[in-house]
Parts: sequence; C-alpha cells; structure tokens
Amino acid sequence: MREIITAGERPDLKKAAVAALRGEWPAFVLHDAVSTTHRQAVGEYFARYDVMLVEDGEVLALAVAVALRWDGVVSTLPDGYDGALVAAVTEHESGVAPDTVCLMSATVRPDRARGGLAGVMLTALRERAADAGLTRVIVPVRPTLKARYPLTPMADFHRWTRADGLHLDPWIRTHQRLGAEILAPAPNSMVVTGTVGEWEDWAAMAFPQSGHYVVPGALDLVEIDRERDHGVYRETNLWMRHPDIAASS
Ligand SMILES: CC(C)(COP(=O)(O)OP(=O)(O)OC[C@H]1O[C@@H](n2cnc3c(N)ncnc32)[C@H](O)[C@@H]1OP(=O)(O)O)[C@@H](O)C(=O)NCCC(=O)NCCS
Repeated sequence: MREIITAGERPDLKKAAVAALRGEWPAFVLHDAVSTTHRQAVGEYFARYDVMLVEDGEVLALAVAVALRWDGVVSTLPDGYDGALVAAVTEHESGVAPDTVCLMSATVRPDRARGGLAGVMLTALRERAADAGLTRVIVPVRPTLKARYPLTPMADFHRWTRADGLHLDPWIRTHQRLGAEILAPAPNSMVVTGTVGEWEDWAAMAFPQSGHYVVPGALDLVEIDRERDHGVYRETNLWMRHPDIAASS
C-alpha cells in the first residue's frame, strides 16, 4: 500500500528517511551552516510540510518544506535557500502568519527515480499547504544538470531551453510540467564553509594549492585558500514559482 505521511505524524519515519536518503546528496551540501543551525527548529515548526511517500512501510521519497510570508514580488524573495530557512524560523518565532510554502528539498530513492514520484510529492505538499491556508508556492531550485556546467552563470543556464520549450534541466522540467515559472537566480543561496581538510573530505579529492576547483555535485566552483586553511562554496539556485493554490484548486 502506498500512502503519504508527514513527519508531524511519524517523526521516527522521517529520521529513518533522512538517514536512508542522505547518500543522494553531495556531502558538502549537508554542511550548510544555516541549515545546521536551524535544523531542529525547522523540523519542529514545519513537520506538517515534511512529506513522505511510504510503500509497505518503506520511504520512497521525501519532500521538506517551510512556511513563510512573501508578498509575491520577485525583489522581496528571501535570500535563497539559507534566507528562506532563516525567514521561516524567525517569522514563526515572532508570530508572523505565513502565506507561502517554500519547498527546500525533494529526494527520491534512486531505484524509484524517473517515475514521476517527485511530482506526486509536490502535489501532496501542495495539498497540505492548502489545508494550512497557504496560497503561494515557491522553490529555490537546485537544478540537477547544473553540476555539469559549474563555469556557466545561472543567469545564462536558466535560459537554456529545448526545442519543445521546456528547460534543458530535468528537475526544472518537473517543476515546469506542474505549471511553475522561473522567477530569478538566487545567488549565495547556500553557503558552505570549511577547512581545506574538511573540503578534501567532503569532495573526496585533493586541493594542493589555493584556487577555484570543479567539485563533483557542485553547481558552482569551490574556492580554496590554503594559506587561511579555508574553503568556501557559494551556490546559486533558481527561484521558481508554482501556480497559486487558490487559483488552481
Ligand atoms: C531530482 C529528483 C527529486 C527527481 O525525482 P523523480 O521522481 O525522478 O522525478 P521525475 O520522475 O519527475 O523525473 C524528472 C526528470 O528527471 C529525470 N531524472 C530523474 N532521475 C534522473 C537521474 N538519476 N539521471 C538523469 N535524469 C534523471 C527524469 O528522466 C525526468 O526527465 P524528463 O523530463 O526527460 O522526463 C530525484 O532524481 C532525486 O532525488 N535526486 C537527488 C536529490 C536532488 O537532486 N533533488 C533535487 C534538488 S532539491
């Protein structure tokens, strides 16, 4: 039997799902300081938007989202992934009523990829957001194909469409098929810093001198400063907006 369950309903299942699906992400992504700082609060405040697709007791897919307030104007979007996390937590703690659901990540078990499950998850999340009275849906998208083009600015990449009018990137296409539109690149969406040793560990490669490096799974270059024993990665994501919930349901 296949069912949608939220982390609010089964916190134990979310823990197991996160542990099982961690491997689908490049290691450095799991070391975003903003995310680490707010992990507990996000999990506690927004558990109703952590949606899992469960089949015969096993989690096939997980979508994690937060709720925040946004006036629908592109120039007032949060500062990417990190900014959305901070806004959601800060607003929740100061009693600001949210009106927007912001998808932070979606992960599908690799043996079930390419089967449209991400769309199922997004639809399920939308239903839960509707139940909570939210009307807008935004995503700081991490285009999966962008890692093959780390030298290309997102400002160029986001214009790369195919002959059929859909985007070259498969993850952007999934959003487009659900009616989403591209809003704008989100620079410094996720910033990951570490020592050179940490970066060598996360990237599983050596960084013998200071400079900019192409790292597997990274959408942008990683900057290594051996003298300061410091590495920094500033990921640009792409803001997309799905149709408003009130307009479509
Ligand atoms: C991105 C992801 C959520 C898509 O989930 P999904 O259920 O496979 O999505 P869909 O079935 O709608 O497939 C979407 C597109 O991605 C393509 N795709 C999915 N997995 C792929 C893979 N491993 N390699 C290449 N393309 C892939 C599909 O073929 C499809 O392309 P199409 O437009 O030509 O049909 C899933 O691949 C995943 O969990 N990836 C790792 C985590 C991640 O990067 N998440 C996205 C950032 S938050």
